[in-house]
Amino acid sequence: MTDTITTPIYYTNGNPHLGHVYTTLAAEVLRRAYTLYGRRARVRTGVDEHGLKVQRKAESLGMSPQKYCDQIADQFLAVFEAFGIDTRDFYRTTSPRHKEQALKLFKALYDSGDIYRSSFSGWYAPSDEAYYAEDETEFRGDLRVASLTGSPVEWVEEACFNFRLSKYQDALLTWYRDFPEAIRPATRRNEVISFVERGLKDLCVTRKNFSWGIDLGDDFDHDILYVWVDALSNYLTPDKWGRQVWPAQLQLVGKDILRFHAVIWPALLMSAGLPLPTKIFAHGWWLTDSGDKMAKSTGNAIDPLDILKKYDDPGILTYYMFREVPFGEDGKFSSDGVHVRFRELANKYGNLVNRVCTMIRKYEIPIQDFVFSTSYEDMGKELLPLYDDLAFHKILDQTVALMDEANQYLALNTPWAQSCEASKRADILNSALADIWEITLRLQPYLPYQASHVIASMSASYHHGVALDIPILFTPPKDV
Ligand code: MSP
Repeated sequence: MTDTITTPIYYTNGNPHLGHVYTTLAAEVLRRAYTLYGRRARVRTGVDEHGLKVQRKAESLGMSPQKYCDQIADQFLAVFEAFGIDTRDFYRTTSPRHKEQALKLFKALYDSGDIYRSSFSGWYAPSDEAYYAEDETEFRGDLRVASLTGSPVEWVEEACFNFRLSKYQDALLTWYRDFPEAIRPATRRNEVISFVERGLKDLCVTRKNFSWGIDLGDDFDHDILYVWVDALSNYLTPDKWGRQVWPAQLQLVGKDILRFHAVIWPALLMSAGLPLPTKIFAHGWWLTDSGDKMAKSTGNAIDPLDILKKYDDPGILTYYMFREVPFGEDGKFSSDGVHVRFRELANKYGNLVNRVCTMIRKYEIPIQDFVFSTSYEDMGKELLPLYDDLAFHKILDQTVALMDEANQYLALNTPWAQSCEASKRADILNSALADIWEITLRLQPYLPYQASHVIASMSASYHHGVALDIPILFTPPKDV
């Protein structure tokens, strides 16, 4: 069986930034780990193109929304590809197959009797594409904003169609209780439970007065499908080759959009008679130095391509993000912090590889069988439970501890000493190479390019008797 891992589909009202790459890289690291260590997995990611804020952004640039979205979608694709992310199932909500799926979901909700005519008057935040009750808003200066997100709200009064969200309150609470692993981390799960226990109101799922979305046709007054229902339905669409991807085994989201995924989404699925996801995991935010959330709207976001340019390897940012902050918690991004992690890799791993290879070549030491005795299968037994638990930082902590041990082993055994007997030296260096092999298999999901150099060179040397020649890893960064 192939596991499906989904990421949110990102709004196209601006360029991709570090936050978007974070969630998608988490899915990709899992995909690589599962695939390498013996399970199969695929990633669905993509862009959420409809809605008021995208329409307004395109208008502000004097462009048609479609043309504008085409450009931004290409940028997301380019950035994901630059980070080595598998984009075979990159999804766009302006695609015809999406429209078909979204309408199919809406029809299923209607057929269950869960859609009814109503009207809405209240606050709407275009940047969140979310409705808020009066007591969920507050004034910051002259501006009325949503208390939860700080996004400016606008007063909306219009006829609409509602979804009977309140009907699913008990069923949702039962699901949270019966499947404690379904919403993670536990603290976020508890927040969701208390939110639902406070009572759910029905949800307005259609909008009027703008055009950039899915038209629901004559029966529904040509209203536009609420962009969150539009976007969530993406998860149900089979992939480009027609293979089923739903139900997903894992849905990764930022904590900002957990309610949409842990409350509205499962209620829609229950109404449509569809299975629920196995696990929804909400990760934390990357913050700036001053502790603000990095976001497109505030213009404080880091461009991941700048870091890529500097280090010339997408693995450096990947390693930094999963080494620095336990997945689920917030973290402050800093370029110096990236550099510290780069140096950690260069000093503890790059130098180790370099030193051991140089000695193996210099003393013409044959590589022994046992160097390769750790298999991907062994790694799977040990690491897959940690990956299932999204414990990237634990995996990397252990990996760095192995690097330290390997370096200490060399320092203690001094294979470079003239007094070291040849057969003892060969044993020491082969042991060190076995450590390198194991460390490399562990690093591979984060640093696929550097790891593949090491694996290819070691394998070629062993199988074909060529000199062990590993290119210099972690070349110094460029000034950009
Ligand atoms: N389009 C909706 C999601 C629809 S899914 C059916 C959306 N898009 S978004 O462009 O605003 O992306 C939000 C997601 O991007 C977050 O949930 C998170 O995964 C990621 N991040 C955006 N900023 C982030 C940080 N500063 N830090 C970490 N991740 C962040 O919401």
